[in-house]
Amino acid sequence: MMKKSFIKCPLNYIGGKTKILDQILPFFPENISTFVEPFCGGYNVGINIKAKKYFAFDINAYLIELIDYLKQHDRDFILKSVDEVVSKYDLSLTNRDGYNKLRDDYNNVKNPLYLFVLTCYSFNHQIRYNNSFDFNTPFGKDRSCYNESIRFNLINFIDALHNQDVKFEVSDYKKVSSLDLDGESFVYCDPPYFITTGSYNDGKRGFGDWKEKDEIELLSLLDQLNNKGIKFALSNVMVHNGLKNNILEKWSSKYNVHFISTNYNNSNYHSKAKEHETLEVLITNY
Ligand SMILES: C[S@@+](CC[C@H](N)C(=O)[O-])C[C@H]1O[C@@H](n2cnc3c(N)ncnc32)[C@H](O)[C@@H]1O
Repeated sequence: MMKKSFIKCPLNYIGGKTKILDQILPFFPENISTFVEPFCGGYNVGINIKAKKYFAFDINAYLIELIDYLKQHDRDFILKSVDEVVSKYDLSLTNRDGYNKLRDDYNNVKNPLYLFVLTCYSFNHQIRYNNSFDFNTPFGKDRSCYNESIRFNLINFIDALHNQDVKFEVSDYKKVSSLDLDGESFVYCDPPYFITTGSYNDGKRGFGDWKEKDEIELLSLLDQLNNKGIKFALSNVMVHNGLKNNILEKWSSKYNVHFISTNYNNSNYHSKAKEHETLEVLITNY
């Protein structure tokens, strides 16, 4: 059987859910009035969802600004502008000076288009800031560049964004509570994982840490949505590198826990958990 192809954010965002979309989307409701993604990251999930309208939040202002830029601007204008930046800085797999000059200029003006081009050439395509909010990912020498695959993803992502009635906002996830949602609304949460570390939640990147308090507050907000009859799904990891998220495990017993296979077959959580490094889950209240 042919695997369904999904639209992919051209940013290669860390923690992006593209690889497991085929496993999580079958658990999503069929008819969605308002789709809400309060930790949207690279928006790899929302972009593949059919709904009447969409809200997407993230606390990373530069990321939201960039995705919203792709939403607000004409596709051909963006493609032409990217080519102009690549040519102006003479960017290539080997021109470190050109990359560093673009990075300096971006840090002075914070132009979202510059950020997009930087991510094409940065080490592992990472978006990383220091505590002064300067983009500081090093050059991805010999490995990262604006190639055909990124251009293909960029075009499809822009076209899909233009076809969605979506509102992006720089906001804490708690904003969800203030939205006017109905019984066909659906909230998908993909927060930083309490027991793992991404460059967005190691507490060193200017965008805050994800601590026990945050975990508990998020789970409590999901309980409140449940009490209001609003459907939600939460992505997370239950076990990682020998650590278990006990708070999540206890809380999840009232809901439905679906196990996601990553690089192994985890047909039975309890017998396999110890043997494997990461146990990824999708928790739903329906
Ligand atoms: C696992 S990533 C989401 C990845 C996304 N699902 C994708 O497929 O591209 C988690 C995101 O949560 C954001 N974040 C962290 N704390 C937040 C908060 N309090 N409110 C909203 N977003 C937050 C981070 O900036 C990061 O982009």
